[in-house]
Amino acid sequence: MARWKKDEIYRRQARKAGYRSRAAFKLLEIDNRFEIFKDTARIVDLCCAPGSWLQVAKERCDVSDAVIIGIDIAYVKPISGVNIIQSSLESPELVDQTLGLLEKPAQVVLSDCAPKLSGNKSLDRERQLWLAKLSFQIAIKLLDKDGCFVTKVFQSNEFRDFVLQTRKSFRLVKTYKPQSSFKRSPEMYLIAKGFRGVSEPVSLAEL
Ligand SMILES: C[S@@+](CC[C@H](N)C(=O)[O-])C[C@H]1O[C@@H](n2cnc3c(N)ncnc32)[C@H](O)[C@@H]1O
Repeated sequence: MARWKKDEIYRRQARKAGYRSRAAFKLLEIDNRFEIFKDTARIVDLCCAPGSWLQVAKERCDVSDAVIIGIDIAYVKPISGVNIIQSSLESPELVDQTLGLLEKPAQVVLSDCAPKLSGNKSLDRERQLWLAKLSFQIAIKLLDKDGCFVTKVFQSNEFRDFVLQTRKSFRLVKTYKPQSSFKRSPEMYLIAKGFRGVSEPVSLAEL
């Protein structure tokens, strides 16, 4: 199917279902396959604008008093029952600010991070991987033992090393390409479950 046609179909479906973007379908597929929201009450979405993953998290989380926090450098229109922090992932205060709202460590940390695309493919991949690594660093500071981390990663030469590195912190790490992600797009999702609870500081250079 032509790429524009698939895009249009998902956009229409998203509008119909009330989701803010077609990215919602990627998270729905991830959850259908890996059950990331089962029995979870504390969820953080690190690059959440415009907010469709937050909508899915709210829908799929089966606990009534769930704490859901969305973070993005861009403004996110409010979603009832969801806390939004408008901040860059690079902010040194972000982890403490988020832990303050959570009260207890998170059970799921999500990141659908993507830089502003420049058109230079290798530069875009490099920047995206940097954001995914930063998301990982933040996730291991926020997560409770046995927690789950999901991040988008553009495939590149360094992708494999990053996956291997995450295996040191999580018992189960899988990569997954949802049907709703374009075949030609370099994006993949890394699903890491069973956080070992070791939050030794990892520098970006080590990842
Ligand atoms: C693909 S969008 C996320 C879509 C979202 N998952 C949804 O379902 O609505 C990627 C997001 O990453 C955010 N982003 C990029 N760099 C960031 C940074 N340094 N700090 C925080 N957010 C960032 C962008 O603002 C953008 O909203």
